Amino acid sequence: MLKVMITRIKGTQDISYEDIGYWHYVEEAIRNISHNYAFTEIRTPIFEATELFQRSVGESTDVVQKEMYTFEDKGGRSITLRPEGTASVARAFIENSFVNLGSPIKLFYNGPMFRYEKPQAGRLRQFHQFGAEILGSESPLADFEIIEMAYSFLKELRLNKAKLFINSVGCPKCREDYKTALKKYYSDKLPEMCSDCQRRYETNVLRLLDCKVDRERVAGAPSILDYLDVDCRSHFEELQWYLDKAGIQYEVDQFMVRGLDYYSRTAFEVRSSSLGSQDQLVGGGRYDGLIEYIGGKSCPAVGFAIGLERIIMLLKSENSKAGIPRGPEVAVLTFGREESVKGFDYARRLRKAGVSTYVDVMERNMRNKMKHAARIGAKISLIIGKEEIERDIVTVRVMSDGSQFQVDSDYMVDYVVDKLRDIT
Ligand code: HAM
Repeated sequence: MLKVMITRIKGTQDISYEDIGYWHYVEEAIRNISHNYAFTEIRTPIFEATELFQRSVGESTDVVQKEMYTFEDKGGRSITLRPEGTASVARAFIENSFVNLGSPIKLFYNGPMFRYEKPQAGRLRQFHQFGAEILGSESPLADFEIIEMAYSFLKELRLNKAKLFINSVGCPKCREDYKTALKKYYSDKLPEMCSDCQRRYETNVLRLLDCKVDRERVAGAPSILDYLDVDCRSHFEELQWYLDKAGIQYEVDQFMVRGLDYYSRTAFEVRSSSLGSQDQLVGGGRYDGLIEYIGGKSCPAVGFAIGLERIIMLLKSENSKAGIPRGPEVAVLTFGREESVKGFDYARRLRKAGVSTYVDVMERNMRNKMKHAARIGAKISLIIGKEEIERDIVTVRVMSDGSQFQVDSDYMVDYVVDKLRDIT
């Protein structure tokens, strides 16, 4: 038979021995902070109708134009693997009439997202986001809480070097004048600009500000902040007032428009220079028009999403011990049939007492079993051979120093639990 090697798809990862400790650590932090802030989890499908993302994220964005995993299912429907979570949350909010639960609704999610981007460090085609959304509040208090939650999460993980950038992209009303000013600014530069920019000049001129190719022209462009109407300006000032009061440091980045079309008023990002070229760790903002735009009743909302792969890259670069995988507490090493029956019985008793217990199911000599127990990081080995069966005892070996104790089988569980307490 021809041997074939099937490999994983470019831009995806197998997360296991090396990194799984980091993932568990971060996932636990997500559950803790979400519970702490009283956000309820939502799990939406991984695929949705393509139209949802076309409408929400926006036809003129890179995400919709270049990065979506879109396919036709057997029923002829156009389906897309979700490139982000906000559109799905907005859809679920409408479809499940969450509005009837009273405002605001505070939701969080954590799961895989898919974007057909060029893979590189910190940029994958399947990546994971932890996101949080507050739906139903127009107040800058909601913007503040969302930013504070993202900030606390990073603090909890001791990622203190990342920097917060904020901006206001105004509401559709004040954005019209700004778009006109931008068009004027770019009109004579357009012939030298990239083909995407030339197209976006007509479809959504704001996108020219986050073009990855034509960056250097942004510096001289007009600032959205000069075009904000009274309400948008005061909303932005209020947010800054709350951030100042909380001692959360930030910088206003007047050219940040974010790569998704649904934003209005607040936009923010947290960036970390330790991440290299993919420096954006958190992205978020307000999307007051989205729910109505996809068929619901008008409902203001604000949220953030954090890329978990980037969080883990930072944890690793800071030499965090968080990712050290937890080995079993006890390894049960037996030799022979009767001994193995006894071994499984001991394992059952230990597990019932809450002790993580690994049974070596290979039929090999004791020396090799011991080597294996050390390799998987067991703290204690239980050795059960002929002598142990005959005398109804068990040999308890402390792996860190090789000390061994023979214990009456009736007292085995208590002895092991005490010993574990002593050595950890
Ligand atoms: P976003 O800025 O597109 O925002 O993505 C948020 C975060 O997801 C980024 O800061 C980054 O950490 C991570 N990320 C994005 N693309 C990739 C990739 N290809 N590989 C690895 N990580 C990636 C959103 O998705 C919005 N839904 C955020 C939001 C929530 N706005 C309001 N509510």
